[in-house]
Amino acid sequence: MDKLLIRGGRRLAGTVDISGAKNAALPELCAALLTSEPVTLLNVPRLQDVSTMLKLVGNMGVVAARDAATPTTVRLDARQLDKPEAPYELVKTMRASVLALGPLLARFGRATVSLPGGCAIGSRPVDQHIKGLQSMGAEIDVEHGYMVARVPGSGRLRGARITTDMVTVTGTENFMMAAALAQGETVLENAAQEPEIVDLAEMLIRMGARIEGHGSSRIRIQGVERLTGCTHRVVADRIEAGTFLCAVAAAGGKAVLRHGRADHLDAVIEKLRAAGASVDAGPDFIEVQSSGRLQAQSFRTTEYPGFPTDMQAQFMALNVIAQGSSKVTETIFENRFMHVNEMVRLGAKIQVDGKVAVVEGVPRLSGATVMATDLRASASLVIAGLVAEGQTIVDRIYHLDRGYDQMEIKLRGLGADIERIK
Ligand code: EPZ
Repeated sequence: MDKLLIRGGRRLAGTVDISGAKNAALPELCAALLTSEPVTLLNVPRLQDVSTMLKLVGNMGVVAARDAATPTTVRLDARQLDKPEAPYELVKTMRASVLALGPLLARFGRATVSLPGGCAIGSRPVDQHIKGLQSMGAEIDVEHGYMVARVPGSGRLRGARITTDMVTVTGTENFMMAAALAQGETVLENAAQEPEIVDLAEMLIRMGARIEGHGSSRIRIQGVERLTGCTHRVVADRIEAGTFLCAVAAAGGKAVLRHGRADHLDAVIEKLRAAGASVDAGPDFIEVQSSGRLQAQSFRTTEYPGFPTDMQAQFMALNVIAQGSSKVTETIFENRFMHVNEMVRLGAKIQVDGKVAVVEGVPRLSGATVMATDLRASASLVIAGLVAEGQTIVDRIYHLDRGYDQMEIKLRGLGADIERIK
């Protein structure tokens, strides 16, 4: 099991390239299931979750592979898809596999997809996905841990008005993909507004889908008979960019994030500026500068365009060594403070009470061995390790590899003393 060895105390400086967004690439790989024509995705990040999704669609009979010469280019051809199934062995490692359900039902009228099971940050059910697809005419039974879905009669989904109990990112994506080929109009009333939703919609429109309102809370989709192939470039990863912004702000220094989209990070950039970091931006780069001694900032996570839950752990790492105390409120997931106990091992002062963590800034952290528990928690421990005095070892970094494209190589490029040990 790989570990990261970090010797903290270095300031960061230089330029880093932000990769394509994991949470756009995953639904977009599933969107390729909607057509029998070839699809090419550009700027696909090199992540474990992407490899898992390629295995998942390959298992269905889709020809899918990274381009040998350019591994960020992925070519898919779902013409021969003959097994609309997503088995537990793959789904249990990546709950985003549920994104296959909508496309398979839309194109084939049937699908057997394993329930994802829980994950470290919460129970994360898919009841809203099921409810929405049922409202489009799908019959979905849960048998032996699998969702067994079929569209009776004509086999074609029909448009519906869908209002979910809460805003759901992958739920919105599943419904958008299913509705693209359904009969009639679908209206998503409390749709998610994340940039990844907009990017997926733009890809679907390029394939011939008729979608409007993406990026707002109401999305309207007019179903069409068929969708064509396309070439689509995956939008830059705002969470990777936000993670690097927090790393430079906490460690001190100056960096340029190439391809970073500041317009996708308003809430985070506002808090970084309030903390005392300086952030400038162009259309496709973000520049950050920091003394490393910042003012702690309270924040609460909410749906986009609010402060993203996927940035909560990383900004907490900044608060831990900032001046003053701060309150961090996690409103999206019920168990997303697992990084707290590990940070306390580094010398942080944090008290958790339900959804709220109260952080009291300390002047320094001291290196220790800590354990990653989930994707963004691991990123926050790397940031804390960059700041801690002495040596920090972050264990179980397979969590990190799921969602960050060569993070230690990029950080070393900024001057960090960090290496991967087998
Ligand atoms: C997406 O997960 C992201 N994953 C998550 O990123 C992100 O944290 C999350 O959205 C919130 O922004 C991908 O896009 C692949 P939700 P998703 O459905 O869609 C509850 C990362 O770090 N809910 O928006 O699974 C759910 O439990 C990952 O990259 C139901 O109760 O999240 C949660 O409390 C982690 N029933 C809330 O809604 C449902 O059917 C929001 O979840 C669906 C969701």
